[in-house]
Amino acid sequence: MPQRPYVIDEMISAKSIAARVEALAKEITKAYRDTDKLIVVGLLRGSFVFIADLVREIDLPVEVDFLEASSYGNAMESSREVRILKDLRGEIAGKDVLVVEDIVDTGFTLHHVVNLLKSRGPKRLEVCALLDKPSRREVKIKATWTGFEIPDEFVVGYGIDFAQRNRNLPHIGKVRFLEEPAGA
Ligand code: PRP
Repeated sequence: MPQRPYVIDEMISAKSIAARVEALAKEITKAYRDTDKLIVVGLLRGSFVFIADLVREIDLPVEVDFLEASSYGNAMESSREVRILKDLRGEIAGKDVLVVEDIVDTGFTLHHVVNLLKSRGPKRLEVCALLDKPSRREVKIKATWTGFEIPDEFVVGYGIDFAQRNRNLPHIGKVRFLEEPAGA
């Protein structure tokens, strides 16, 4: 698909993210202090950077698992149809679970995943999302912990893509489309 030219403006610096991740991990550590083992579930692909940083700041015995859900593909609008492309490796029945998500937008992905995982009978299930765009919400869902509330901007970086690009940016940026030259 030919891409409109765009630039990325920094929105949240790597330093601000690191400070927020540390604070979130402290709250999570406190909330789960009585657990024998916390199962941290990363939603692929967008959460892979966030979960890597977050688990290293959580001061508890942790097991990491991944689930891959997709509702966007390469599109800019949610398909509203959440597909599970890869399920968890482990069982979560009777266990303490923390779902880690990069961004909650319409809420369809998180809503679907939380319902699916709750149906498996975890002892406790909470959600930590790095970014939240409440103005875009179409289904009622809220993460237990949120890193940053952001306006309705198209964001990339720190794991989040634009048509599978820019996931490796160390900060969160917003996409700004450039005018096409006349006759292009
Ligand atoms: C993105 C993002 C969230 C979801 C949020 O995933 O990582 O999981 O969309 O949007 P929603 O609240 O409108 O459902 P995507 O389907 O693009 O897959 P990816 O994580 O592999 O990039």
